[in-house]
Amino acid sequence: MKTQYYTASTLNGFPADERGSLDWLLGLGEVDGMQDGYARFIAAVGAIAMGAHTYEWLLRHEGLLRAPTKWPYAAPTWVFSHRDLPLVPDADLRLVRGDVPAVHAAMMRAAGGKNIWLVGGGELVGSFYDHGLLDEIVVTIAPIVLPSGAPILPRRITDPPLAPTGVERHGDVFVTLTYGVAPGVAREPSLPVRSPGA
Ligand SMILES: NC(=O)c1ccc[n+]([C@@H]2O[C@H](COP(=O)([O-])OP(=O)(O)OC[C@H]3O[C@@H](n4cnc5c(N)ncnc54)[C@H](OP(=O)(O)O)[C@@H]3O)[C@@H](O)[C@H]2O)c1
Repeated sequence: MKTQYYTASTLNGFPADERGSLDWLLGLGEVDGMQDGYARFIAAVGAIAMGAHTYEWLLRHEGLLRAPTKWPYAAPTWVFSHRDLPLVPDADLRLVRGDVPAVHAAMMRAAGGKNIWLVGGGELVGSFYDHGLLDEIVVTIAPIVLPSGAPILPRRITDPPLAPTGVERHGDVFVTLTYGVAPGVAREPSLPVRSPGA
């Protein structure tokens, strides 16, 4: 049971452009093998978390408030926001704020032994990382470079570095890279620092 950040990104680390748009990604179209990879990934997912902007992008892109049956996920989904966002009728959704460890614990209980998918954005995934609650990053790199955008993971992860565990090529377009994150020590500066031997 892993907590995974599974996302697509430009080569220079932007999952979305500066307006939150994914047009640069959708413009690449369907690529052989990508759908199979996603189907394998999502079959192992038991709970999903995303930030407000990612959820709002989904609402707009799929027209979900007019066509709620197009909600794409069967797994229970937690949306982080400080606002009272509209919920897609009949989708297994809950709005939450703040307390990432408590939400993660609820997600673990709901996931029934399956994985947890952190959809993004980067700052929300970073707050799971800060609490030692991120196990794996799976990033599909698109052959695109943008001048700016929403950063994939605005954190410093150097010591230990991430551990590369997989490389998969999809057609002539995408490369999926998988990295393990060193196991779980809370990294919030405000938490007490444990001295060696304590
Ligand atoms: N390429 C891909 O595969 C991919 C994957 C995921 C996302 N995306 C895109 O990337 C963009 C990401 O946008 P983003 O970086 O702005 O991230 P985001 O995480 O989707 O949205 C950020 C917002 O989430 C809410 N939030 C985050 N943490 C919270 C917490 N602990 N408690 C309460 N609310 C919290 C806040 O919203 P409030 O203002 O409501 O409080 C915050 O402004 C989106 O446009 C999305 O479509 C792309």
